Amino acid sequence: MINTQNIIDLEQTYVVQTYIRPKLVFEHGEGVWLYDTEGKQYLDAGSGIAVNALGHRHDVIVNAIRENAEGLLHVSNLYHTAPHALLARDLCEASFADRVFFCNSGTEANEGTLKFARKYAREQGYTDKTGVVAFTGSFHGRTMGALACTATEKYRQPFEPLMGDVTFAEFNDLDCAHQTITDHTCAVIVEPVQGEGGVTPAAPEFLAGLRAICNEVGALLIFDEVQCGLGRAGTLWGYQGYDVTPDMMTLAKSLAGGLPMGAVLVTQAAAAVMQPGDHASTFAGGPLIASVARAVFNHINQPHFLADVQAKSIYLATRLNQLVAQTPLLTGVRGKGLMWGLISTIPAAEIVAEARHHGLVILVAGEKVVRLLPPLVITQQELDLLVERLQATLESVG
Ligand SMILES: Cc1ncc(COP(=O)(O)O)c(C=O)c1O
Repeated sequence: MINTQNIIDLEQTYVVQTYIRPKLVFEHGEGVWLYDTEGKQYLDAGSGIAVNALGHRHDVIVNAIRENAEGLLHVSNLYHTAPHALLARDLCEASFADRVFFCNSGTEANEGTLKFARKYAREQGYTDKTGVVAFTGSFHGRTMGALACTATEKYRQPFEPLMGDVTFAEFNDLDCAHQTITDHTCAVIVEPVQGEGGVTPAAPEFLAGLRAICNEVGALLIFDEVQCGLGRAGTLWGYQGYDVTPDMMTLAKSLAGGLPMGAVLVTQAAAAVMQPGDHASTFAGGPLIASVARAVFNHINQPHFLADVQAKSIYLATRLNQLVAQTPLLTGVRGKGLMWGLISTIPAAEIVAEARHHGLVILVAGEKVVRLLPPLVITQQELDLLVERLQATLESVG
């Protein structure tokens, strides 16, 4: 029998060490709860970084996998399948988009938007409209194009030169955006609520201003909703809190409830420039994964589900504000929906590590922001437990 230490030793011997993993092994999960190999129970307020929106082992996901497991698992994208077509329809009917391109992750979705934008500008007859504008605090992924749009220096620097022609403007600073976005810009990429960069919502006038500038210079506006989309920000789409629509939007993370899937949602104008052969992916939108994604999406996209997320958001915000008021280690709280950041005076990683001793899984977002991304299905009682465990953690760290 393989024990906890054997598993950790194998990982440290055979796996490329791109993560610093804590010395525990998760074995199973149920609802908002995770269990390790020693039988310890943790309240999962990270949701696998915004992936397990329906928590662990949700009936909707288990049943969708069971029902489709004996059907087609994979067939090439050279052929039609029903789940692929139906999921695309569902996503378009519920959003600004006219068409969808499926892929397998968030970085790949963002990578795709860069190709759409470059091709769109070229089709308009521009040969020099190749610039992309991204923002400070952004995170768009780890592949070379998406990484070029990611602000964090330590993620970029070892791999330079990255894809060229990306310029950064200050997030939430419209004057700076005005100066940076020019006729040379083919696309502007922004998270409506920045996740990794510190859980920072965009100001409404900022997103509205970006829309206006993009219209002025003929650039496509891309919303990266990989983290804040699909109910996480309290509305189905993060942009719905803003009264602004993009030309393209990227999704991944919770889209297939824990199975790997990404998507680029686009207007007809952006879609029309892409011809057969311009972009492709072997696995993307396969029948099993698309069936599961459809079940997850139609579960989240219900008025009562989203109203419940909103109600829990208000409740959690109140509890977190009270916690900040009582705790010298915390200086502020910001976020939306069930996506919250607590600003701390000490490294957030210390709080996250201590939280595990209190049976709580939470995340960092930047050096001094503790990030909470509980499953959207968390109950009010479980939110109380989350705050209780957080309070106990802060007391022991303090
Ligand atoms: C906003 C945003 N975009 C893109 C990504 C990259 O997604 P993936 O890890 O699936 O490539 C992330 C991941 O954290 C993200 O938060």
